[in-house]
Amino acid sequence: MKHLIDPTDLSKQEIDQIIALAEDIIAHRERYQGSMAHKKLATLFYEPSTRTRLSFTAAMMELGGQVLGFSTPQSSSAAKGESVQDTVRVVGCFADIIAMRHPIEGAPLVASEVSRVPIINAGDGSHSHPTQTLTDLLTIKRELGHIDDITIGFCGDLRFGRTVHSLIKALSRYHGIKVVLIAPDELRLPDYIKQDVCEKMGVEYRETDSLDDAIPELDVLYMTRVQKERFLDEDEFDRVKDSFVLDARRMALAKPKMAVLHPLPRVNEILTEVDEDPRAAYFRQVENGKLVRMALIISLMEWKNDPEHTMPEHEAPIVNPALHCTNAKCICNNEKHQPRFRLAENGIMRCWYCDSKVR
Ligand code: NCD
Repeated sequence: MKHLIDPTDLSKQEIDQIIALAEDIIAHRERYQGSMAHKKLATLFYEPSTRTRLSFTAAMMELGGQVLGFSTPQSSSAAKGESVQDTVRVVGCFADIIAMRHPIEGAPLVASEVSRVPIINAGDGSHSHPTQTLTDLLTIKRELGHIDDITIGFCGDLRFGRTVHSLIKALSRYHGIKVVLIAPDELRLPDYIKQDVCEKMGVEYRETDSLDDAIPELDVLYMTRVQKERFLDEDEFDRVKDSFVLDARRMALAKPKMAVLHPLPRVNEILTEVDEDPRAAYFRQVENGKLVRMALIISLMEWKNDPEHTMPEHEAPIVNPALHCTNAKCICNNEKHQPRFRLAENGIMRCWYCDSKVR
């Protein structure tokens, strides 16, 4: 069975297959309308969401399937102290496939370890967001005509922005990708993405704190919101909250065909004056999110019993009681799961569930 917890759970071939299916859905909408008849999707959302949850719901409805679930943990048994694993064991008796969003990193991963139906990670803390990645890839493909050979700038909160982490991981498997990381010091990309993804996969990247300097060379500008809810220190948030604002003046410095993406919601990092610019792709990106989720649901349901499509093999996790994950928001520090680790690039030990450093 195939779950989607991390973008690399899908091979590049499988990603391209899902994108191609989404494009076929766009061309032949009517062919897919009943394809999930009598199937049920459960959306288990332990954290706020508009686009992701509603696009999963709309995707399943358009395929003729049905949707059940909850949109706040207060309305589930999590409020009574039920573990994530117990919840998915229960929900797996009611639904054929589950999409889960959780503020605790690694929660969808532990869910997948006991689930009898496919689990889709719809965002875990500041860690990963693989279905936004599929949305972003489809958007790049539709806006530029190709995903290979692009220079992409990520701007804003690269530290807590899970959509950035997942998209860089996925792009590292395409050809000729150059990444420009545009962020203030406090919001730089985590080391594990730089080392275990960019350096390991040979992705060219550079860091800058100037959007004006970077923008002329970009084919894609990926704007992000500063993730207020992930800051432990409010003063730190206030210092960086208005770091970068995209406006018409800056758009004038960009290539005539550059595409502006943003996973949304935006706060103030893109002025509304940019919305009318034909290069502003972020509302088209929302629609792509529904289409690609339709393709993902169909694919995971088809692959459920297909031995050709299973989870990738990983080296066995390292278990050592002397080691601890340093991330307070990791599942191993929030529920009773055995701490597990993996040996990453440069001999650095990282948490199996959330990729954080180890003490
Ligand atoms: C993003 C998320 O939830 O990580 N939104 C989304 O899924 N479209 C980005 C964000 O909240 O800033």
